[in-house]
Amino acid sequence: MKVYKAKDYDAMSRKAANIIAAQVILKPNSVLGLATGSSPIGTYEYLAAKYQNGDVDFSGVTSVNLDEYKGLDASNDQSYRYFMNQNLFSKVNIPLENTYVPDGTEPDSDKACAAYNEILRKVGTVDLQLLGLGHNGHIGFNEPGDFFPDETHCVDLAEKTIQANKRFFASAEDVPRQAYTMGIGTIMRARTVLVVVSGADKAPILKQVLEGPITPQVPASILRLHPNAILVADEAALSETDI
Ligand code: F6R
Repeated sequence: MKVYKAKDYDAMSRKAANIIAAQVILKPNSVLGLATGSSPIGTYEYLAAKYQNGDVDFSGVTSVNLDEYKGLDASNDQSYRYFMNQNLFSKVNIPLENTYVPDGTEPDSDKACAAYNEILRKVGTVDLQLLGLGHNGHIGFNEPGDFFPDETHCVDLAEKTIQANKRFFASAEDVPRQAYTMGIGTIMRARTVLVVVSGADKAPILKQVLEGPITPQVPASILRLHPNAILVADEAALSETDI
């Protein structure tokens, strides 16, 4: 894994945006895999600025998001579709019809996951997959478990994830208990994987990801086997490693 150490969240965001911009400049019809959460917000801000400066054109880009809460629709301000519209899609010229997020409104999990797998097959190999890192090592909503799930599936959110995400909801009870997520297999088949990690609270898990055993108990550890994985992390997040 190639590691870039950034001074802080802003420097991390700027570096990650530069890498994504380079991808889109070199291949204007890139398929970008996108993430939500607090880690990529700064990256999206820099990308929006690059679009506004005329440095990057997103008109040929297709995007597929990692995950969505089951039961939330696009008008719910906690849905990941809403997040993407707010933080990126409304600020750049990506055609909205070429942006895909799992359908949280589909109550039949098998149907929702099969439909998303079909979309992933249609758009083809993801050129660059952006990822954040959960405190328990999850990527997308692939929680610690006994195996690495291959394709899109419905997950029961880990208690740690519910606790981490409750800050965005009125209370922990309001956090959905299930989500649809892209599988680890799909993530690993992306041509490039770009992970952004910031903050001292992520330092213990990042150490495990980089230096511990490669195990589905720490899902992100498998990224060390990816032929083109890039980690952009700030000093605080890397503070428990020798990097
Ligand atoms: C979001 C996602 C999650 C987050 C992770 C870190 O689409 O797939 O895996 O990347 O929970 O979240 P933050 O960045 O909020 O710490």
